[in-house]
Amino acid sequence: MAKFLMITATTGTNLELAERFATVAREKGHDATVVDLVEVDLPMFTVARSSDPEKTVDVSDLTQQMIDADAWIVVAPEYNGSMPPTLNNAIAWLSGDWHNFRKMCTGKPVGLATHSGGGGAHVIMAMRHMFSFIGADVMGRSLTSGRNKEANPETIEAMIDNLA
Ligand SMILES: Cc1cc2nc3c(=O)[nH]c(=O)nc-3n(C[C@H](O)[C@H](O)[C@H](O)COP(=O)(O)O)c2cc1C
Repeated sequence: MAKFLMITATTGTNLELAERFATVAREKGHDATVVDLVEVDLPMFTVARSSDPEKTVDVSDLTQQMIDADAWIVVAPEYNGSMPPTLNNAIAWLSGDWHNFRKMCTGKPVGLATHSGGGGAHVIMAMRHMFSFIGADVMGRSLTSGRNKEANPETIEAMIDNLA
């Protein structure tokens, strides 16, 4: 049994997609938790804010959840050919604790998925770039879906099986 963490950058169709991944994972006997970064509601990261004890935020619970997971599936819509600010912002906050960040990211199996207005290829590329850069082991197969393309259930199953 693997422990999955589904991380969604938005609360609409991408949260629904993250829940679908979680349901399939649970049906296969795995543990799956969905984290909604909109709910986490982090302020915008700046170095000034992060180094001010009065203004910084404690992301240790999220860090621990990410360390404890065997694999992450990151689900985000395309925004302006890239990723939404919630995702980029969360990674900036998490990287502040450099030691735990390395522990959390290095070799972590990561699957990428999107429900976007268009094809979603750009957000997959942007996320692949960032998650590979921070040391994660990003799987080659990803799931793209959108207004004119249903999520392929076979891809969801294959991603869960290969990440577990
Ligand atoms: C600020 C903004 C920028 C967007 N840029 C793109 C884009 O570059 N490419 C695209 O395919 N869709 C784009 N979209 C559409 C979203 O990807 C699409 O509506 C997505 O399904 C929203 O996800 P959600 O339902 O989880 O909120 C954009 C939407 C917003 C709000």
